[in-house]
Amino acid sequence: MGRFMLYLLFMGALLRGCGENRMDSPKPGNGEITGSRLFSDYGCAKCHSLEGEALYGPPLDEVWQKMIQVTRDDRKLDMKVDRKYLIRSIEDPGYEKASGFEGRTMPETSLTSRETKALVDYIISVNEANP
Ligand code: HEC
Repeated sequence: MGRFMLYLLFMGALLRGCGENRMDSPKPGNGEITGSRLFSDYGCAKCHSLEGEALYGPPLDEVWQKMIQVTRDDRKLDMKVDRKYLIRSIEDPGYEKASGFEGRTMPETSLTSRETKALVDYIISVNEANP
């Protein structure tokens, strides 16, 4: 096989690699993104319990539609946990700090907006299943 053929094969492999979403994104067998899978694959579960305990971060099974206090720019604000709040907490973790967790840092993520939405849907469904 000539050098040029090898070059073509190599470039082909490279381009195929680029077509994938991201190298580090989880790939469920059926190609479907599920919130529960993302929750464990992205390590959310290391810091967030879905069973009411505070780990490094606040539990996420009893937050939906609750009034909570957050700190934003050194000011305390009362707010209701809605979809927008959950999305913002994930996309811009430093923007507001949940009360009691001010000194802790949630890492920035590189989730796509579809993945963030799947995670938020999952968190909401867990809350709704929790009487
Ligand atoms: C290294 C630990 C850590 C990881 C990993 C982590 N978080 Fe957090 N998270 C925190 C901490 C600490 C807070 C509270 C401080 C703050 O609001 O920034 C928080 C806050 C939140 C909040 C707001 C909760 C509330 O009660 O106001 C949501 C929602 C959230 N995280 C979702 C996620 C999701 C989804 C993932 C996975 C993609 C994730 N977190 C990964 C530590 C983490």
